Amino acid sequence: MSTLAQAASAKSATSGHGLDWPHLFATRAERMKASEIRELLKLLDQPDVISFAGGIPDPALFPAEAFGAALTSALTGDSRGAALQYSVSEGYKPLRDWLVTRMASLGVACTADNIMITSGSQQALDYLGKLFLSKGDTALVGWPTYLGALQAFNAYEPNYDRLTPLGNRSASDYRETAAAAGGPGGGRVKFAYASADFANPTGETLAESARKKILDLAEELDIAVIEDAAYQSLRYDGDEVPPLLALDIERTGGIENTRTIYCGSFSKTLAPGLRVGWVCAAKPVISKLVLMKQAADLHSATLNQMAIHKVASDGFDAQLAKIKATYMARRDAMLAALSRHMPEGVSWTKPDGGMFIWVTLPEAADGAALLAESLKTERVAFVPGKAFFADGSGANTLRLSFSCASEAMIEEGIKRLGRVVRGG
Ligand SMILES: Cc1ncc(COP(=O)(O)O)c(C=O)c1O
Repeated sequence: MSTLAQAASAKSATSGHGLDWPHLFATRAERMKASEIRELLKLLDQPDVISFAGGIPDPALFPAEAFGAALTSALTGDSRGAALQYSVSEGYKPLRDWLVTRMASLGVACTADNIMITSGSQQALDYLGKLFLSKGDTALVGWPTYLGALQAFNAYEPNYDRLTPLGNRSASDYRETAAAAGGPGGGRVKFAYASADFANPTGETLAESARKKILDLAEELDIAVIEDAAYQSLRYDGDEVPPLLALDIERTGGIENTRTIYCGSFSKTLAPGLRVGWVCAAKPVISKLVLMKQAADLHSATLNQMAIHKVASDGFDAQLAKIKATYMARRDAMLAALSRHMPEGVSWTKPDGGMFIWVTLPEAADGAALLAESLKTERVAFVPGKAFFADGSGANTLRLSFSCASEAMIEEGIKRLGRVVRGG
């Protein structure tokens, strides 16, 4: 045993606190911190709390019977061996074929070779962080952005810079900032991450002109664009805006020439528990992702992919129509309640779809303190907005989700929240 090891073992024997794990962990583990918000949200699952905090689908809307029938059929027919056997990393071919048609309806002409199935789109974000980010590289993200994307990318030790599609920062400014932040040798900008439709947390959608500006900037910087399309199917009104990938194809002439990597998900439309999402991109990107998936989990659960394929092919549009009608009514109820109950000086987004409304309070307000107060006095929960900012700003913002509360609960909850905001 080396002297160092002896010292360490003596220390752990005398202190009785077990191993000093952090000194064994890789440096990347330092960036993996429990989010205060996620920890807090665990405490909110109490029956008397009206919660606008979780951004999850309403379980009452899951097509549970259709899944029951699909799973039975996968396990009893000729496919049962395949359903339970190891399979290819690219994903279940009939599902990829179904997705080729779905992507075509969004203006994305591709083949099954441009699609890899992932275990939720969260897995795609992790893989893309791993694929693109060396320590000290820069990822461009929104201020605010999806917290789970920051968690996924953090493990690869990047810096973040603000993606402002409508701002006037030049490519060279981004490049110089990345080099200066990257430490010895400098870092490079590697990708821009954007949730273009009904973003989590703001509910906002990027106009076609903003999408084109992101593509222009990406072209100038010669970087990839990660399009997070988790909520794209949940449009309640307004006109469809083509995905960044479709606009990229329009300007480059075909998917093989594009720089956009589209991450889709069945979580918000069919069921998150089955963990099925997909990536659609040029083949060189898919090939690398397939190798990463082989190393990470071999493939996503075949039985789940089969069930998703069956339920989607039998009635994706009908399921969409059902959930959209419910969520739209809840969004309308929340917008109306906010107008009735929020005091002067408070503003909020008016999303065309998705699950979220983003509230901005007067400058001096503190969302985290307001949450503590709100839980104590009114039993209403929401997510303080600060966690969604890579630079720790945004203390005076809140995220409200309308997906899981009835219209009556929304009215009551926003009335109570209005009282907390007035008092705060
Ligand atoms: C913007 C966004 N992207 C990705 C995800 C991950 O979803 P999943 O892994 O279930 O597809 C979520 C989940 O809430 C999300 O809000």
